[in-house]
Amino acid sequence: MMKATNTINLIQLSTDIQTNNLFLQDIDKGLSAVQKQIPSVYFYDKKGSELFEQICNLDEYYQTRTETKILKKYSTHIANSCTPDTDIIELGSGSSTKTKILLEAFLKKNGNATYYPIDISAKFLLESSKQLSNSLNKLNIKPIAGRYKNGLEYIFNLNPHTPKLVIWLGSSIGNLSRHDSVIFLQSIYSIFNTGDKLLIGMDLKKDIKVLLEAYNDNKGITAAFNKNLLLRINTELGGEFDLNLFEHRAIYNKIEGRIEMHLISKVNQNIFIKALDKSFHFEKQEYIHTENSYKYNLKEIDEMSKKAGFKFEYHRLDNKKLFSLNEFIKI
Ligand code: TRP
Repeated sequence: MMKATNTINLIQLSTDIQTNNLFLQDIDKGLSAVQKQIPSVYFYDKKGSELFEQICNLDEYYQTRTETKILKKYSTHIANSCTPDTDIIELGSGSSTKTKILLEAFLKKNGNATYYPIDISAKFLLESSKQLSNSLNKLNIKPIAGRYKNGLEYIFNLNPHTPKLVIWLGSSIGNLSRHDSVIFLQSIYSIFNTGDKLLIGMDLKKDIKVLLEAYNDNKGITAAFNKNLLLRINTELGGEFDLNLFEHRAIYNKIEGRIEMHLISKVNQNIFIKALDKSFHFEKQEYIHTENSYKYNLKEIDEMSKKAGFKFEYHRLDNKKLFSLNEFIKI
């Protein structure tokens, strides 16, 4: 029997990032640079978000299942340490699969909970919110489509005095440079009230082979995810990329302590983009830098949280020390 679908009201903020105009400008700028690059926010249209879900289920991608394990172990503790009126906010909620574990712990403790998932992909967000609200019918779910910062400001303006638990899973912080991460953490710290908490997943430094496999899976899903950027340029901007003439590559940059994702041109070629009425030249082996994924040790995590202003933190790790779930508290 079909269950009745709960009504979900999606709050749509700053649609700019997904409109063709900004996409167009960023592509023009990124492909005109000496080192070609595309901002990673453009990975996550509906198709990209779906592909990323598949990445999370890959054997090679240890991050998701390890973070899930840590969440299962500590969810009750985390829920018990929050007051019942806490607003739960998630940055980049995706399918909310991992968060469900934590939400269940809150519901078990308090009978109800308010959850604000913030995600850039409105369509994907609406679908996952509907699914979530069907399986957790006591949950008050208020999805916000937009960028993290706008979403956070919206919620803090709406409920300035309720305690907040902001969760940011999947080591998404790793996609920002070390400098930008501190700036972002500072902006969270400054919007926080005393007692507010940030629960943040961060991937740890480890055997390079394990890291490389996580970003070079056997089935080619990561390659498809990376190439989805080119597909978006083709369908949304009238680009003429031949996906077979580009190759996905992930390398570990030891000096920076990060995985880098590239799309390499297999041949000398010019790519025309209709919406820009312009061609971009690629030398054979020239690449577009599409993503960084920084890896940390506990000392680096401490330094980042201190620089952002947080004075109190917990680190929760799995047995193999593959991944960390950290809690930064404003005191
Ligand atoms: N936040 C994810 C990470 O850095 C994003 C990601 C996983 C990713 N696999 C990818 C980004 C492949 C680009 C290409 O782990």
